Amino acid sequence: MKGILLAGGKGTRLYPITTSISKQILPVFNKPMIYYPMSVLMLAGIRDILIISSPEHIGLYRDLFGDGTMLGLRLNYAVQPEPKGVAQALTIGADFIGSDPSALIFGDNFLYGHGLSELIVRAGKLTDGALVFAYRVLDARPYGVVEFDKDMNALSIEEKPQKPKSNYAVTGLYFYDKHVVEIARALKPSARGEYEITHVNAEYLARKKLKVEILGRGFSWLDMGTHESLLEASNFVQTIEHRQGLMVACLEEIAFNQGWITRDQLLKSASISRDNEYCRYLSDLAA
Ligand code: TTP
Repeated sequence: MKGILLAGGKGTRLYPITTSISKQILPVFNKPMIYYPMSVLMLAGIRDILIISSPEHIGLYRDLFGDGTMLGLRLNYAVQPEPKGVAQALTIGADFIGSDPSALIFGDNFLYGHGLSELIVRAGKLTDGALVFAYRVLDARPYGVVEFDKDMNALSIEEKPQKPKSNYAVTGLYFYDKHVVEIARALKPSARGEYEITHVNAEYLARKKLKVEILGRGFSWLDMGTHESLLEASNFVQTIEHRQGLMVACLEEIAFNQGWITRDQLLKSASISRDNEYCRYLSDLAA
């Protein structure tokens, strides 16, 4: 399974913060935003990851993660010349995906909750069809909305409908079989001029191959792309970390627990600073 992490976009909802900086590099409490979706891919057991961003910003992510060795990952980078929609990532990443199944995650999505690892490890074994995650919201109109039957087969999927057919929004995490590139290549831009991920999912639905998994009320799903949700996510992470003494989305910790990096590599990351909580956390882990 290959992973694609989207770190481009316009970030208009976060203006003026995003006038000269990439949204997914912004701090969410004590880490860059991109750490959170990266942690989801890693928890799913995915080590081959392609990060896609704009020509101006891709260097930020290369500087942040390098080739991924320190996290036991094999990272690749690609440029999206213009933000023409999320589904374009699948054609930009066509060579990287090859004939493997893939997981696509938005760089501004925050997912957290008991049992998430189990759910996504299972999803990471997908080889046939597509899987989306549905999350109940009060007002589904601003989202992709999915309706499904008792066997969790999708019945309809619509982008930002005026009259949603369900209260279930589709989160920014998708699992696809090897046919996704061929489907993405056949897409036409929507009325707003974007290659829509909902159209990819609609094609799987037309083939009767779109499954839905519910993220229940014990999960938190936030899109960190607005001023309020950015602060909410920071507060949420701070509250949990201070209460438990355990970090949310500490990538070195996940890599270490997965057996992808050695204790020495962990200590090397910990040695960056003595006066830093994140580094102290890593050295405690190594001890
Ligand atoms: P959005 O949050 O839908 O769009 P955006 O980031 O451009 O923000 P805004 O609506 O405020 O203008 O994008 C979801 C994720 O996908 C986000 O992490 C950015 C990323 N993205 C791309 O990488 N390329 C794209 O062409 C688009 C539209 C989004």
